[in-house]
Amino acid sequence: MTTSLPAWQALRAHADTLRGTHMRDWFEGPRGPLRAERFTAEACGLTLDYAKNRITDETLALLFTLAGQARVAERRDAMFGGEPVNTTEHRAALHIALRAYPEDGYRALGVPVGADVATVLAQIERFANAVRSGAWTGFDGRAITDVVNIGIGGSDLGPRMVCRALSDAQTTGPRMHFVANVDGSDLARTLSGLDAATTLVIVCSKTFTTLETMANACTARDWFLQQGVTRAGLARHFVAVSTNRDAVAEFGIDPANMFPFWDWVGGRFSLWSAVGLSIAVAIGFERFRQLLDGARAMDLHFASAPPERNLPMILGLLDVWYRSFLGAGSRCVAPYCEPLELLPAFLQQLEMESNGKSVRLDGGALDAGSAAVVWGTTGTNGQHAYFQMMHQGSQLVPVDFIATLEPVSDLPGHHTKLLANCFAQGEALLRGRTADEVRAEGVRDEALVPHLVFEGNRPSNTLLLQRLDPYHLGALLALSEHRTFVQGALWQINSFDQWGVELGKKLAAPIQRELEGTAGAAAHDASTAALIRRAQAVRATAAG
Ligand code: F6P
Repeated sequence: MTTSLPAWQALRAHADTLRGTHMRDWFEGPRGPLRAERFTAEACGLTLDYAKNRITDETLALLFTLAGQARVAERRDAMFGGEPVNTTEHRAALHIALRAYPEDGYRALGVPVGADVATVLAQIERFANAVRSGAWTGFDGRAITDVVNIGIGGSDLGPRMVCRALSDAQTTGPRMHFVANVDGSDLARTLSGLDAATTLVIVCSKTFTTLETMANACTARDWFLQQGVTRAGLARHFVAVSTNRDAVAEFGIDPANMFPFWDWVGGRFSLWSAVGLSIAVAIGFERFRQLLDGARAMDLHFASAPPERNLPMILGLLDVWYRSFLGAGSRCVAPYCEPLELLPAFLQQLEMESNGKSVRLDGGALDAGSAAVVWGTTGTNGQHAYFQMMHQGSQLVPVDFIATLEPVSDLPGHHTKLLANCFAQGEALLRGRTADEVRAEGVRDEALVPHLVFEGNRPSNTLLLQRLDPYHLGALLALSEHRTFVQGALWQINSFDQWGVELGKKLAAPIQRELEGTAGAAAHDASTAALIRRAQAVRATAAG
């Protein structure tokens, strides 16, 4: 059990010794000038400055010892070896194979997967080229102008985020739209501006049974028919991404227009698979391959770099340090890069669905906090909203600042201001401002002084991408996946299942029947029963 490991115990004691210390003193001490160099690591065009963390050399040494005692490297090797690391579902978690080359020789549960991956990539390439060139047409022979990806969770967040990040003014190809919510306003708003004859729907669902996706796909199909697309013509407007061939056929999509993937690909790790079809259509297959290449480079780094230079290892250890030893309940992700605005939402699913668990691999209770709440928005916007709390609030909130060294936009002056603010926030969180400094700045009203004091000592990482392009984004996302894996390995939980989403889904079905009036009242707690009655009353009134 992780928490009984000697290094875990030692870290607990060590955390106590750090209380009352201030990072500012470390920077101002004799070894301060070396701190940035010591606590910086680079890989795959990414630079991680983790000097502004509440860590000393001793903390790091203890964390690396913990990684050794928790056998993180062995668990990583088991994942890379295609072993059933998803123990409750007896599946491999081999998303790394999706961005590998066939000669890398990955196997899932002993079965080689390289040839299947290459076949589907070739299928994606052909299709993306055909849609983008206009060779794939709608039912009346016109080229596709709009693509709607219907999916949710892992079948939505990754592709939506990458398309947002990498689509710029130079991007040619159809307009991309994403519909996830079963709230009909999502689909209605999207379809309202579209011409059915030039619109293509990608129904994206690993299981092809997910309520939201199937409801939206059925409604979209009706809309195409109402708009004059013929039943036979629907084949030009619907393709599927799934592992469930039978369900795809039953829905009415020709399996020839289905892009398969496999049970060893978890939903939140799937954007590299056919789930990324929308990405390939949006940015072109060549750039999609560059995204995979960046991720592959990070995979190789994770697999081979020593812990002291291993980015996923360092970040995963820091996450556990803050969550389990310093009691931080959340982590803010602040991309100072507007095209990365959807990254926090993607990371929410990645980390919280993976590691939001309280049961260890062996079935015992985890007696340490797991998955922090991941949240955030782009900088500088967040500075004018919730950064107040991070500077002067009562909670410890580690921050990940993410920025690009080269500007994304060529509007003069903007990138300089953006970077200056990014760096200034990290500096302010670290150093704070003392009462004496406030007075020295000339504040005349002594009553104001306590309000102007910043405690500082608030930790952050700064992650710099050379530039925002497919390669560096791929590396960043693979880094995030492996960081999540390291967290889970340290907590000794299964990061690859998600039983916690099942109960609510199960309870929704009978409530839906009650709301529809096709079933009588089932047994509910008083609160839920009252909510159902209230909704029924409004629906009855509306029905007249
Ligand atoms: O309900 C959670 C979940 O199972 C996620 O793990 C998954 O990414 C999402 O639903 C969508 O599932 P599917 O791709 O099977 O529609």
